[in-house]
Amino acid sequence: MKMQLIQKQRVAEMVETLHQVAALPEAEAQCLPGWFYTDPEFFDLEVRTFLSKEWHCLGRADEIPQPGDYFTAQLFDEPLLVVRGDDEQIRVLSNLCRHRGMPIAEGSGSTRKFVCSYHAWSYARDGELLNAPRMRDKGVTKGSCALPEFRCEEWNGFIYANLDDDAEPLAPRLEQLEVLLENYETDKMRHVATFEEDWHTNWKCLVENFMEAYHLSVVHPETLHHYTPTGLSRKALSDDTFTAYCANYPSSAEARGMGAPGLTEDERRRSTLFNVFPAQVASQAATLLVSLSIKPLAVDCIRVRWTLSTYENELTQDELEERIALWHEVNREDREKLEKMQLALSSRHAPSGHLAPSDYEGTIWDFYRYLSRQYPV
Ligand code: FES
Ligand SMILES: [Fe+2]
Repeated sequence: MKMQLIQKQRVAEMVETLHQVAALPEAEAQCLPGWFYTDPEFFDLEVRTFLSKEWHCLGRADEIPQPGDYFTAQLFDEPLLVVRGDDEQIRVLSNLCRHRGMPIAEGSGSTRKFVCSYHAWSYARDGELLNAPRMRDKGVTKGSCALPEFRCEEWNGFIYANLDDDAEPLAPRLEQLEVLLENYETDKMRHVATFEEDWHTNWKCLVENFMEAYHLSVVHPETLHHYTPTGLSRKALSDDTFTAYCANYPSSAEARGMGAPGLTEDERRRSTLFNVFPAQVASQAATLLVSLSIKPLAVDCIRVRWTLSTYENELTQDELEERIALWHEVNREDREKLEKMQLALSSRHAPSGHLAPSDYEGTIWDFYRYLSRQYPV
């Protein structure tokens, strides 16, 4: 009992610290202390307070282009089945049989109907029960139950889900980000590949890492520095829902394709990196869109599902393979750093150092202020 009280008090003090850090003027912005990334009770609080009530990107709509195409996902306690129905609508259904709770589907694929592997109840592609063998006398017949459905929205070709039935719609909150991306025709980018990996890091560490340019030239000297050196990066638009920065290419770098016809020359010569709060980070360039959906599993573990999309057919298959290999290497470089840092952050000497100037780490300051708003004073 006494232990619980101490933990409660510690977590309350952490929230207070978060408010104080987020209230600093930008010029004095500081990092959050290490225990924000390592304390299991604080992680539980994050999940309860906002992570389980926010919109989470699950993938791209054209990963499942035909009726019956599906993939599965897990968001906190909920196993999800993302499926395109006969009416072409994408639904996010509970991936749990209504009989005794067996998952209905695994991985990804395409099907005419979903048949539970345990006692063979079957479901239509909109989740309605089709058949339950030997259950007629119990009143369990076609249409008598259905897989529960979660809130789902499509925005710019991304699929988002929210476990909270009362959540505000997402799209109206993303109008400013829409302005930043509109010339890229993000909604038309064509899905090329999906990968899924578990990383041993706190979810916020990957958000912050992806969204800051300060490390680019140091951690990625061979893979990114010649295209997106730290020194040319510039903070971009942000608001309560997202933050962004532009990783500009040096004039010496070759163009990397034309992309959408409405792009300006400047837009063609940069990657725009954005974070839809809390846990989607993405890089939009003229011919390539890479998006990472970060699913927090525990305080020190995340599932990263990342997709790569391209603009029409401008890049050859070889060029696409090269870009995929490059992104695997970039992720490997980041992952190595983050997993080492995670092990060190529990130290009582873990720092709360200064954030770098706005163009390099201003996005982290935006992220902290988003986090702070989740705990009303
Ligand atoms: S759990 Fe699915 S049919 Fe029994
Ligand atoms: Fe990186």
